[in-house]
This record gives sequence, structure tokens and C-alpha cells, in this order.
Amino acid sequence: MDKILILDFGSQTTQLIGRRIRDLGVYTEILPGDAALSDEAFRSGKGAALKGIILSGSPESVYTDQGAAPDRRVYELGLPLLGICYGFQRMTWDLGGKVAPLPRREYGRVGVTVAAEKADEADFGRTLGFLSGFDKALPLSAIIASGARPPAPPGHGGGAPAFPAVFTAWMSHGDTLTELAPGFRQYGTSDTGYPAVAAHTQKPWFGLQFHPEVTHTERGIEALAAFVFGVCGCTQGWSMEKYAEEICASLPGRGGEDPVLLLISGGVDSTVAGALLLKALGGEKVHLMYMDTGLMRKNETEDVSADLKRLGAKNLHIVHCEAEFLAALKGLEDPEAKRKAIGDLFIKVQERELARLGLPDSSFLAQGTLYTDLIESGKGVGKKARLIKSHHNVGSPLVDAKRRAGRIIEPLDRLYKDEVRALGRLLGIGRDIVRRHPFPGPGLAVRILGEVTREKCEILREADSVFIDELKKRRSPAGNSLYDEIWQAFAVLLPVRSVGVAGDLRKYGWVLALRAITSADGMTADVYPFPAKDLLEISTLITNTVTEIGRVTYDISSKPPATIEWE
Ligand code: XMP
Repeated sequence: MDKILILDFGSQTTQLIGRRIRDLGVYTEILPGDAALSDEAFRSGKGAALKGIILSGSPESVYTDQGAAPDRRVYELGLPLLGICYGFQRMTWDLGGKVAPLPRREYGRVGVTVAAEKADEADFGRTLGFLSGFDKALPLSAIIASGARPPAPPGHGGGAPAFPAVFTAWMSHGDTLTELAPGFRQYGTSDTGYPAVAAHTQKPWFGLQFHPEVTHTERGIEALAAFVFGVCGCTQGWSMEKYAEEICASLPGRGGEDPVLLLISGGVDSTVAGALLLKALGGEKVHLMYMDTGLMRKNETEDVSADLKRLGAKNLHIVHCEAEFLAALKGLEDPEAKRKAIGDLFIKVQERELARLGLPDSSFLAQGTLYTDLIESGKGVGKKARLIKSHHNVGSPLVDAKRRAGRIIEPLDRLYKDEVRALGRLLGIGRDIVRRHPFPGPGLAVRILGEVTREKCEILREADSVFIDELKKRRSPAGNSLYDEIWQAFAVLLPVRSVGVAGDLRKYGWVLALRAITSADGMTADVYPFPAKDLLEISTLITNTVTEIGRVTYDISSKPPATIEWE
């Protein structure tokens, strides 16, 4: 399998570069921009051959101390390099060119013209392989196939010359190249007159001032594909089937007798991790532990356990600890106090139940950590902190101890969220679990404002399930189910009651808020613009079905300034 390494200098779109290339069928890894060349990802290993390196964008400037630089030896490896925005400026600066601030920051769509006939060097073939990405006459499939055969000459297809190519690109930069580094030649210029595309005349090094990874850039995906296939010579080797096979064959603990413990939460990640472990190691060796805190969604415990049993789980330990959690939450109204009580009790119950299980010290602990959990993109360079995804986001002594002992298994740590969903489908996990919306660790406790009681949990569980079932049944104008169009939807029980009428009687019922948002990653969120008809019908259905609720409202706040959850 071929691999492209992305050096992350802090751009918000670094993850997107990785996604786009994986979507093209090529495996990617991301490292902090200033990572040492000794890092394992720089090597061809674990069955992945390093074929090229991409230097990402950054909010910093190359001429300041904040602008991080790659390991100097990156330029000595002889591998193809592609600099994007800051990455392009970085290469220019490091290799002897000049970069200076723009009089005015350039942001948004800008026209770019690429003129390929300028090139006359002997190695024009490779440069053309790259520039062909901008040729509107060349379909993506031909660019992908170009890894296996020489790129088409200019004016291919017998028609008019394909260059100059004129297209719209998306820019976001405050600096520009004022002098190319020695050996580079400019092939593309922005309508504002600045260098937009350049290539080295002897080496497989390329630079783009704009962002090919964002959809606003016409031919952006094709430009990335031209680098990956036409320049690096990658072949498509990344697929979920291959990943599943490879990971199953190489799981630590596969050979020995030591059991593997996985704590499952009911969410997509841990369920898929569980299914993968069951497939790779078999039901006898895998111990799955699930804590029913009483703060779960309707039927969550039953659905998850039924699915895992169907997938071969033999040691499924369901811990029923609702009473303990409700007792710990009794009288607590402050959101932070509620979260802390849940986190502390979680660790306590977990330790007690594990002791009861009596697994040997040599056992492994598996976690559903995702690739995005490991990378801190856009939050500053060099923060290599390996985030630990533990149950309910609390620092867990168990996880710390297992990590120190080298007995942690993270079988999803090379996958993005939607790849995990695809893997879940491949492993045969039920559709309802695979497409499930995110759910916070402290569960319904942060959706019942104020004190949490069993009665309120029941009311909220019912109302939430009416809302969610309706979203699954109803279609958007585009024909998708509303549930699949919405990133996260849920109901919130407010600590107020209001007056209403039921028949001839006045009724004093709870107020429920509905929340439905669209988002890419939960960092920011927009309110889902429901057609009024859906909201009105869902509201009526909830008040008719859950009689304790007298009034329904819809939360119309985006994030920021509001958060997605209410507590
Ligand atoms: P906020 O409310 O901060 O939520 O806008 C962003 C996303 O994170 C989820 N969330 C949590 N997830 N443990 C989790 O595992 C938590 O304590 C927690 N709090 C919020 C929230 O549901 C949303 O998807």
C-alpha cells in the first residue's frame, strides 16, 4: 500500500487534505509540521510505502518565530513534495526564495491561469503530470490512471490545446512569494498578479498558493490526484476491506492467550471496535463491558448488546448501575458538579467491576480511539499530545496503567469518523447503530437541566425517542431521511413547567426543547432549518404521546455563541 505523508503546520484544512486523498484510494498519515525525520511515519513501514509529502497551510508567517519549519532533511529525501499555501511559502523560504506580507490579505475565490507551454525542461513530463490536474478536458479517472502510464501531452484528445487553463481557486493568505526559490519556475498566476502554481525544474517539488482540498477550488481534487498519481506514482490501495483484513492480521494480542477488554459506551466508535476485535480474536478472548448508568437513550442497552451478541460476543458484561448514578446525582443542580459526580463514579464502578471480572494483569485494554482523536490539527504546531479517549472523557487510571505497560489496543486509530461508519457496515453492525448521532459521555444528565431524577430520565427518554423516530421516518426535499441530514438531534428537558389545557382541565406540564444542528465536527454548528410542518407535527406527536410534557420549543441558537448541549 502506498502512503502520502502530510506535515501539519496548523491549517484548519489539514485534515481535509487527508480525507480527500483517502477518498482517492490512497492512504495518508498526518504529522506535526516540525516532526523529526526519525518519526516512524516518515518511513515506509507497516506495509505502507511513503511516496510523497505534502506541507500544509498555516495561520503563521514563515519569517516569524511562530512559523514552524519541517525537518531540513525533508528536502534531502528525494521524495515528491507539494507545498500548499504556507507549505509553498515554507519551501520557498527554506530553499532560498523570498516571502513578504501582502498589502491586503487575500481571502476567498480568486481566478488563476496556468500556462503549461512555458515549460521546456527535459523533465517536463512529470511537471505536466502535475499541471494536467488543471486541464478541464482531463477526467479524474484519467488522472488516477496516470500513475501507471505517462501523462497525456498538451492538447491531448486531438482537440484544442488544453492550456492555458483558467479556473477559480480558493485562497486564504496574508503573505506571498516575492521571489521563487532557485530552480523553481512559475506556471500559474492569480488574477491579482501573484504566483499561484510553481514547480522545480529538476526535482519533483511543487507549490500551490491556493487550497486544492476545499470544494470551492475548481479542479482542486484533480490537482491533488495529479500530485498523488501523476507525480508520486501512487496506486489505489486504501480500502476499508483491506484495512479490516490488515488490522485483523496484525492486532497485538492475536497470537497469545491474554484476554482483551473493551469498554463500550453504545456509541459508534466503541461498537465498531468491538465488532472488529470479535472478528479478529473471536468471542472467547474478547471481554466487553458496558455500564448502564440509567442515563442512556431509549433501548440503547438492549440494541447494543443484541448487536454484539449477534456478532459473536460471548463475554458481554452489562453492569446495571442506574441506582448508584441517580443517587450520586441527587440534589445536584450545577452542571459541573453533575459532570464531576458522573466522572468520579464512573471510575469507581469501573474499577470495582474489573476487579470482579478478575482478568489477569497481562490482559490488553482496547479503545475506540479515532485518528482525529490523536491529531490536534489547527491548534498549534508541535502539540503532539496523544489524546486519550476514555469513557466519559475522564482521565482513567486503568488507561494510564495499560498504556504504561504497552497493553493498549486502538484498532481504529488510523480512521476518520465516516470511515469508522463504513467499517461498521462492512462488519455487519446494524444500520441504526452505525449512523447514530453523537451522544455525550454524561448522557441524559446534561440534557435534564437542574437535578436529575429517574422520572425525568423516563420522560426525556420517551420524548427524545419520539423526536428521533420521526426524524428517521421523515424525508427532506432532497429525499434523504431528516435524521441522516442532521448531524446531531436530541431533546432537552427544561427545569420549568408551564400551564396548558388537556380537554377541560388545566394542566401543568414540563417544557421540552428540541435541538437539531448541522455541523462538520461539532466545533461549530448551524441550526437545522426544519420546514414548519415537520416541527408542528413532531411537537403535537410529543405532547400527545408523552403526557407529562405540556409545551415544546425549538432551539434556534447556533454554535457559537451557544454550545450544542445545554449543560
Ligand atoms: P458542545 O455542547 O460542547 O458539544 O457544543 C460538542 C459535541 O461534544 C459532545 N459532548 C460530549 N461528548 N463527553 C463526550 O463524549 C462529554 O462530556 C461531552 N459534552 C458534549 C456533544 O454531544 C457534541 O456532539
